[in-house]
Amino acid sequence: MKPIQVGLLGIGTVGSGVFNVLQRNQEEIRRRAGRGIEITMVADLDVERARKVVGEGVQVVSDARAVIANPEIDIVIELIGGYGIAKALVLEAIAAGKHVVTANKALLAVHGTEIFAAASAKGVMVAFEAAVAGGIPIIKALREGLTANRIQWLAGIINGTTNFILSEMRDKGLDFDAALKDAQRLGYAEADPTFDIEGVDAAHKATIMSAIAFGIPVQFDKAYVEGITQLSATDIKYAEQLGYRIKLLGITKRVDKGIELRVHPSLVPSKRLIANVEGAMNAVVVQGDAVGATLYYGKGAGSEPTASAVIADLVDITRLHTVDPLNRVPHLAFQPHTLDQAMS
Ligand code: HSE
Repeated sequence: MKPIQVGLLGIGTVGSGVFNVLQRNQEEIRRRAGRGIEITMVADLDVERARKVVGEGVQVVSDARAVIANPEIDIVIELIGGYGIAKALVLEAIAAGKHVVTANKALLAVHGTEIFAAASAKGVMVAFEAAVAGGIPIIKALREGLTANRIQWLAGIINGTTNFILSEMRDKGLDFDAALKDAQRLGYAEADPTFDIEGVDAAHKATIMSAIAFGIPVQFDKAYVEGITQLSATDIKYAEQLGYRIKLLGITKRVDKGIELRVHPSLVPSKRLIANVEGAMNAVVVQGDAVGATLYYGKGAGSEPTASAVIADLVDITRLHTVDPLNRVPHLAFQPHTLDQAMS
């Protein structure tokens, strides 16, 4: 069967990761998806940069609309970010009958209702595992693994930049600005780090999880949002002396009147697992009525961790397009020699 054709809009840190991981693990990914997945067209304003990443075999253009207009493209990956042009392109891709994979939490938290309605009307998927907690498959956990549960609450460290800053301030005694500069240098922070340090990025992600966990529309405008800019090294030191760590948590839970959604610095007892999540790592605790508390931990940002989530969505969509006459679940279709090797 012909590989599924993917067009990539924006090939910066995450886009390069997607291209490289797809190349490196192409055989495994093909086996699991039941069909090959190929990026055949890339749009980036910096054509030279894009060409350096993808080499000669892939069409590179500066105009994202050329990708959307290409009838050969089945899936469009949007990695441009922000609400402006990204929103227009996502809606145009949907209108053109393309499935969309996006890491754009800001776009979905603010315009998700409109985007999901457009996709539903057109019969295409909008997949967004990479929008929340980078490489941690928290969207799939909420949608699939925990689907039997009435979710009671969830709470998480879902912004790597602020967690990194708080860790650096506590462990190395760095001041806020120096720690933020390190986070930017390491590629964790948003283009405009205000979204990180003011809690907006975490609130975007909490909004998306809240919608999935509780089946409500995405309503970023209803979230209470407070960042870490008012915290000093002294706050962190006193918290430590009292047996707590300060963490920026995104929290959403059922309350009598409805659903609560908030992001703010929180005192977490030092013995709790989540208090010990350091650096740019993310962690989310989800409490379901049947399963109890579950914990998800991993890298919340960075090129290949985020690419891991983007590609998981590509595989999900590809499976929908792949009819297997034996109705096998592709990732269970082991080759016999693989099993022998594993057992020897
Ligand atoms: N700026 C984000 C963070 C990147 O620090 O978590 C991943 O969404």
